[in-house]
Formats: sequence, structure tokens, C-alpha cells
Amino acid sequence: MLTRLSRLRLMEQTRKLSQRDVRYARLEESDLMAFESVLGKEAVVKDDIANYVSDWTRQFTGKGSVVLLPKTAEQVSAVLGYCSKRKLAVVPQAGNTGLVGGSVPLFDEIVLSTKNIRNNFEFDEASGVLTCDAGFILQDIDEKLRQKGFMMPFDLGAKGSCLIGGNIATCAGGIRLLRYGSLHAHLLGLTAVLPDENGTILKLGSPIRKDNTSLHTHHMFLGSEGQLGVITSVTMTVVPAPDSVCSAMLGISSFENCLAVLKLAKRRLAEILSSFEFLDAAAMEALEENLKLAPLLTEKSPFTILLETSGSKAEHDMEKVKNFLEECFNEGLVDDGVMADSLTEANKMWTLRESCPLAVVRDGYVYKHDVSLPLPHFYALTEEMRRHCGDLAKRVVTYGHLGDGNTHLNITSSKFDQKLYDKLYPYLYEWVADHGGSISAEHGIGQVKMPYAHFGKQLEERALVQSLKQPVQIGIELTGLSTHSLGSHRNPVVVMLLVVLILLVGVDATDPVQEELRHPTSDKIIEKYVELSMNLTGLFNGTTIGEEALHELSKKIVSHDKDPAKVHEIYEKFVEKLPEDQKKVFVDFFYDKVRLDYMSKRVDTILGYYLTKHQIARIRHIMEDGFTVGLNREEIMKVISEELTKEIGKEKAEKALEMTVKNLKVFAKKNIGVLDRVEGAFNKMIHEEL
Ligand code: MLT
Ligand code: ZN
Repeated sequence: MLTRLSRLRLMEQTRKLSQRDVRYARLEESDLMAFESVLGKEAVVKDDIANYVSDWTRQFTGKGSVVLLPKTAEQVSAVLGYCSKRKLAVVPQAGNTGLVGGSVPLFDEIVLSTKNIRNNFEFDEASGVLTCDAGFILQDIDEKLRQKGFMMPFDLGAKGSCLIGGNIATCAGGIRLLRYGSLHAHLLGLTAVLPDENGTILKLGSPIRKDNTSLHTHHMFLGSEGQLGVITSVTMTVVPAPDSVCSAMLGISSFENCLAVLKLAKRRLAEILSSFEFLDAAAMEALEENLKLAPLLTEKSPFTILLETSGSKAEHDMEKVKNFLEECFNEGLVDDGVMADSLTEANKMWTLRESCPLAVVRDGYVYKHDVSLPLPHFYALTEEMRRHCGDLAKRVVTYGHLGDGNTHLNITSSKFDQKLYDKLYPYLYEWVADHGGSISAEHGIGQVKMPYAHFGKQLEERALVQSLKQPVQIGIELTGLSTHSLGSHRNPVVVMLLVVLILLVGVDATDPVQEELRHPTSDKIIEKYVELSMNLTGLFNGTTIGEEALHELSKKIVSHDKDPAKVHEIYEKFVEKLPEDQKKVFVDFFYDKVRLDYMSKRVDTILGYYLTKHQIARIRHIMEDGFTVGLNREEIMKVISEELTKEIGKEKAEKALEMTVKNLKVFAKKNIGVLDRVEGAFNKMIHEEL
């Protein structure tokens, strides 16, 4: 049961990618005219948009037919407000240099490019604080700053085309994080436009370095991948450009020695160490074979380290580096090494490292990964995947930011291979989560990792994230991590209600309590219909259960939304009429859960008749603790009964239990086997997952 639940969860998420969300409207001629009136004709592009709807790897291509190029936050606001009212899906895009398919349309979303938001650029030399519009290219900003003796605190291979707004939205890492820390250390504020009906312009944080007057809401946009809104301007600290930079390349025979060199570098080079990059032999081979880039070291080594120091006094830095290298050789940690003694030589070293992404793409197809792992497991992942994939993979290549524990494991084949895909996932991400890693160190989730985004994350955290995104969910199509409540959600509250249900059944009673009914507005009913319909068709896509029937069912269900008993009856009738094979699919994948949700709500209402919400919550905790410490059903019942007595007196407590149990007994009789199945699943969750 547990396996089925997780599979279902995965299936639901994967299917979302293959189905357009019917809640979004289709673009019409009148929409284009509206955009033109706000942005001007030249900023509404319909021709030659291939580079906007496809990503850099060309693995993700959507069907978007229009690109909007606003120049100001006000224009973004007008566009988003309009799209929100019209329910037109939008995908925000910066430099489109991402590697996870997060900035291109999934379906027919409008592409909102921020590349023309490039008006304001202010830099204060005294404080080192930069405020600039989101559309500036990272390299251009860096060059402007260098004229004043400063530089950006991060550097990426994509610097020539990525935009600062996109860097913030993906919390870009890059090659200098080791020295200057992540963007969290530098971001002071930003302007972002929300995808709500007003296109609200938010100004978060401030240009001063210290400001604790509020929640640091601007930090929520770091790594948000466009899910919360469109960043139009950024305020951040930058750093003084170093007067002396030194690069060195080292050949190392074992991964163990790579770690020993890193440890020594941190100690001996200390404050001047700015990069510690890693390339394995397979990466070197790909560079040579696919890009004709020859290695710089004379000996071929299993591992290559590219390290960089950034300081303020060349002689001092050089002496430090030389002493460090000497120690490495004396200790037998390094087999071969070169120090760059000119900018050209340093550039050659960095070209090797920065060309790795292109070298692997040239194999044909690449399964890219961007994971963080505790250092002892950093290369074990590569070895494990090499063994696991065997001959299916053309190359298993690793390069990355060893200093930060961030490995870019790239597995290549000549073209997309489903067999290899199935071999890799979810195995690889499970391995990472099991070894204490993160499945997304710097590239984000995008489309690629959407089905696995929950790996290694606490359920409550995911729920919190979903609730934060909720207010802006329908106005904009983002990376698609939206909540769909049907079928697979293991919401702790629902689980606890199931526990109430399982525990109490076994005693007698009747239900005198009327359900408290909510009366949704007609708008809400339409929304509910679309959501239910979409969920059901998504869930049963690929089965023989027809879409028409599911739409009809959804209509009936939502029109009786006020009456849970009636809803239950409609489902019952629908199931009864299904042919045997479809019945099984429907019940197994969906209907057990609907029945239990229905019953859980009844239990909640019954308990609510006697207890306050707070008291119910306490009872649930007692049950959860009871299960976790291994109490059996009778023992837990005893504790609950005692607790209830303390709260509301013996007589009421007995009555509450009696009433609840009577209802549940009826449910168990009518739904044979459902409780056993759920109890089994819950026990497994408690023992295996929690
Ligand atoms: C890199 O470090 O080279 C980038 O993150 C790109 C990549 O992983 O391919
Ligand atoms: Zn990287």
C-alpha cells in the first residue's frame, strides 16, 4: 500500500507535466492587442521566438506563441494584472541559460522576458551596494563594477548571457561561493511584481546593510524560480575586486587525496582561497574528444583540481600558493601540477572547466544533475551510477564545485533513452536523499526534477511552501509545483483523522450530528469543477476510464458540494456502474481515499460537537505518539479516553467516543477492507518513513 501511495504521488506529479492545466485560458487576438497597447507593438513578439521557447540544452521546448518584452516594473505589473484576470498562463524568463527547463513554456504559456528591463544602475562605492534592474547581464554588471575596483561576488560559465534577475530567482551558486558565500549573504532587497489581479509591485528589503524590522521577505525570492513573482530590480552588496589572482591545476590520483588537498588548501590558503573546482578523467576525455580541448597537465590523472586564490598582494599570495603546492607534493597528495603565470594561462585552465557543460551536451543527450552531498559521498555517487548504468550510458562524467560539496554528475547517451531514464530515476535522487544530500544544489527544480522535488524534504515543509505559493498560483504558470489535493497527498491532519477512524472502530454507536455545511459561491463551484475534472482526467490518463465520464462525474460532485453524504452517494453509483477492470483502477488509485476523507470529516465533526479544535489537535498528538512508541490499539484508546475525560468529563467523553465509534462501525461494514488497507499503510508510514 505504501509503495502504491508513493507511486501514485509520483505519477500524479509526472502527469501534470503532460497535461495542460485547463484552468488557464487560451490566448486570443484581443489579448495581443491589449499587450500591444501597454507595451508597444515591438515588445509583443510573435515571430522567430524559437530561442525563447526552447532551453539552452534544447531538451525542453514549449508551444508558447508570444513573447512579451516589458521595459519597466509598471509594464510587468500591467501585463501580470491583465493575465491574472484573464487567467492566461505566463512563464517568466531571464537569460534562458537555465539547465532544468524552468524558464521555457511547458505548454502554450506566454513568455515574459525580463531582458529589456535595463534602465537603472546605481552603485554606491562607499557602502559597496548595487541597485540595478533585473535585465542587466551578469558580465556587463561585473565589467561596470570593475571600472570602480569592485566585482560581483559570484561568477558563472553563463555570465555572458545570464541576467541578474534570473541569478536571484535561481540563487545562482557558481565558482566563488567558497569565498564570498551564497547570494543570501549579498541580497539586500528587490522589487518584484506579483501575478495577482492588481499586478502588485512589491518593494522588499532596503539598500542599507542591516535591517531587521521585518521578515526578510526578499530572501524568499532567492531560488524561487519565478514561482512567487517576477523580479524587476535587485539591491545587493558586491565585493572589492582582488589585486592579485592566481590559478593552479593539480593532477590527483585518488578522491581521498582530493579531499586531503581541499582540507590543506582551506588551512594554508585560508582567506585568499576563492575556488576549488573538480573534474574527473571522464570530463577531461569529453573535453578532448568533443571540443578538442587538450589537457594542460602532462600526466593523465583520475582527478583534476582547479584552484584559485584572490588577494591583495601578489608576492604574498604567490608565496602562499607555492608553499601550499610544495606541501601537497611532499605529502604525496598531488602527482602533477601547474601554476598559471599569465592571464592567458589562467584563462586556458578556466576554459577547460567552463566548457564542461558543452562537452557533455556534444555526446548527443545528457542527463544532467546538480546535487549537493556530504564530501565523503561526493564521488561515491559517480561510482555508484557508473556501476548502476553499466553499458546503457555513453559516459558518466563529473565536474563541479568540490569546495561547496556540489557535484555536477552528467550521464550521456547518443539520444534520449527511456531505458536509461528509468534506470536513473528515481534511484539516483533516492540515493542522494538517503546520503544526506540535496537533489538541487544550484540549478533549481524546473521541469526536470519536478516529480522528485519532495525527496529529502519534510512533508510539513512542503506544505508550508505550498501554502506560501497558494495566493499566486493561478495567475501564472510557473514551474508547476502546484498542489493537487486528490489521491496522493499524505497530509498529516488527514492521516491523524484516519487514525481516529481506525482506532475507534470496533465499538457501537449512532450519529445524531448534522454536518456543518459550507455554501460556496458559484465562482468557487466552477473553480472546483475545473480542478476536480483536471485532477481526475490527469490521474486516470492512460487508463480505459473515459474523460467524458470523469467530467460528468465532476459536474455532479461539485453541484452537490454542500452535501457530503450526497457526494458520497454519487461516487458510489459511479463506481457501481464501472466495468470490473475500471472499477479496480478507480477504487485502488482514488476511491479508497475519497471514502476515508469523507469519513474522517464526519469523525472530525462528531468530535467537534464535544471538543474544541484545540482539544481535537491534542488527541491527535496523543495518538501519533502512541503509534510511534508502539502502543497497541487498546492502549491508545485507553489513553484517549482518559484524556477526553480530563477535558470534558467522563459522561461526555463516553458519549463522544460512543457516537464516533457507531458511525465508524457502519462505515467499516459498508466498506469492507478499506480500513485494513489504510491501517496497513499508516503503520508502514510510521515505522518506515517517519
Ligand atoms: C557549472 O558549474 O558548470 C554549471 O553549473 C553548469 C553545469 O552544471 O553544467
Ligand atoms: Zn555549477
